[in-house]
Amino acid sequence: MVLPGWHDSVVLICMSIALVGADRFLGSLPPPGNLHLSWDQSKLSITVGWREPAGLDTKCIVNYSLAIYNENCPPKKNASHICRTKNLSLTLPISKEDKICVGITTNPEVCENKRASKEVYKDLPPPLALVKNFSCLYYAPKKMNCTWNVVKNTPNLQLFYRIEKNNEALKSCISYLTSGHNKTGCHMHDEDLTSNAEVFFVINGTGETHLINKFIIDIRASAVKLPKPKVIITKEGENLRFQAIILKDFLAPQCLKYKFVYTKCNEQRERIPSNSSLRVEYDIACKYTVRVQVIYTNFCGGDHDIMSDMSEPEYYGEDSDPNLAFKVAMIVTPLIVCSCLIAALLMFRRVKDIILPKIPEPSLFFKDMLNSTSDGFSKSLSGGKVYEPVKDIVASNVYLEPMIPASK
Ligand SMILES: *[C@@H]1O[C@H](CO)[C@@H](O)[C@H](O)[C@H]1NC(C)=O
Ligand SMILES: *[C@@H]1O[C@H](CO)[C@@H](O)[C@H](O)[C@H]1NC(C)=O
Ligand SMILES: *[C@@H]1O[C@H](CO)[C@@H](O)[C@H](O)[C@H]1NC(C)=O
Ligand SMILES: *[C@@H]1O[C@H](CO)[C@@H](O)[C@H](O)[C@H]1NC(C)=O
Ligand SMILES: *[C@@H]1O[C@H](CO)[C@@H](O)[C@H](O)[C@H]1NC(C)=O
Ligand SMILES: *[C@@H]1O[C@H](CO)[C@@H](O)[C@H](O)[C@H]1NC(C)=O
Ligand SMILES: *[C@@H]1O[C@H](CO)[C@@H](O)[C@H](O)[C@H]1NC(C)=O
Ligand SMILES: *[C@@H]1O[C@H](CO)[C@@H](O)[C@H](O)[C@H]1NC(C)=O
Repeated sequence: MVLPGWHDSVVLICMSIALVGADRFLGSLPPPGNLHLSWDQSKLSITVGWREPAGLDTKCIVNYSLAIYNENCPPKKNASHICRTKNLSLTLPISKEDKICVGITTNPEVCENKRASKEVYKDLPPPLALVKNFSCLYYAPKKMNCTWNVVKNTPNLQLFYRIEKNNEALKSCISYLTSGHNKTGCHMHDEDLTSNAEVFFVINGTGETHLINKFIIDIRASAVKLPKPKVIITKEGENLRFQAIILKDFLAPQCLKYKFVYTKCNEQRERIPSNSSLRVEYDIACKYTVRVQVIYTNFCGGDHDIMSDMSEPEYYGEDSDPNLAFKVAMIVTPLIVCSCLIAALLMFRRVKDIILPKIPEPSLFFKDMLNSTSDGFSKSLSGGKVYEPVKDIVASNVYLEPMIPASK
């Protein structure tokens, strides 16, 4: 027998448990307050500060996570950088001065049944620019050119740089590139410049507002400029060897690949050998046209491959004329036929008398025969023309000589 109301009480108990559980679990922490951001004046970085969340349980130990977004707030893409701290301020290195959105969250570290707070955001516009389109080309060992477009007419514009791994003081640009009166670039020749260096730049001037622009250039990721290579062709036995030639001691060999594009009798081929030379079987009937392109591969730090220009073409050999045999046949065959004919004619004249000996004129012969019936056959035999065989002239001047043994 079932007690009345028992069913209802079970449902109630379950509900209260569920409610209590949900209540304890649903509590999320309050977000941090008074978020403020600024560009650091000396380094390429931002400083972020905030206050402890209002109404935080004193028994809770929390920490904060900061997310950096390279777009306007609220962000639509994932953060480019996230870090956590227990402090109430943080200085974050930034790779370039651009618009930035910072998001911050309170996380429970030791705080029973509390969830992370919702993320709060704040924008930081880029500092006012003296220059735009700052970019660099590392184009030869220890040599780099950086260029920019002037945005604001700044008296006494100056560029300073520091090669990051050395952590020295800033050096000033020695050799400016100019356009009219404006400084539009800097040519650097520095012993410490290498293909895997990061270089920090500061541009300032003596304007009414003391503007500063800062940049970090990771050479291997964005500044390598491959010079145009050359190719040389050598014959090695039955083979041809194509050798790519590039600037010496510039980039690490393991970072480079070589793409050979060559034509062999108008047939184009493409090969990427394991090193800077390619060996192919040589077909002497073909003309070879060879070009090479150098590739700085993304294995060496960049986010994509960097290609050089194609080298100027080099040539080897000549195409043999595919109609040559036909042409030869067209000229030589008639010649042979003609000379055979002439020879045959000459031979024929020499041996004509043998093949076709002189024969008596038949008219006379028969006349004689007819006449003999009346005048007597004897007359015809004695007085008429008679068949005279011609003297055989073949081999008339051949002499036999006794054979003399060679040894004596
Ligand atoms: C953003 O992050 C989430 C989870 O961390 C991931 O699943 C998603 O693919 C990311 N989106 C982009 C565009 O990277
Ligand atoms: C937090 O601040 C203290 C003192 O202000 C400092 O020594 C420490 O390095 C900071 N920690 C972090 C992670 O920034
Ligand atoms: C912050 O708290 C989380 C737990 O919520 C912990 O995993 C992390 O290590 C903490 N980070 C710092 C910097 O204290
Ligand atoms: C860099 O600047 C120097 C000096 O003006 C110039 O000779 C050189 O051609 C430039 N190199 C590149 C790749 O622009
Ligand atoms: C930066 O470069 C782009 C494209 O080359 C150009 O349109 C723009 O005008 C340049 N900015 C300045 C300030 O010259
Ligand atoms: C120098 O820069 C100013 C902008 O600051 C520009 O108006 C001017 O045309 C530039 N002169 C030359 C020669 O490029
Ligand atoms: C520009 O920066 C350099 C290096 O930081 C500094 O020595 C110089 O005083 C600055 N010039 C101006 C006008 O602020
Ligand atoms: C390039 O590689 C080929 C075969 O992989 C090898 O025979 C040749 O010696 C190499 N050449 C150089 C210059 O290392």
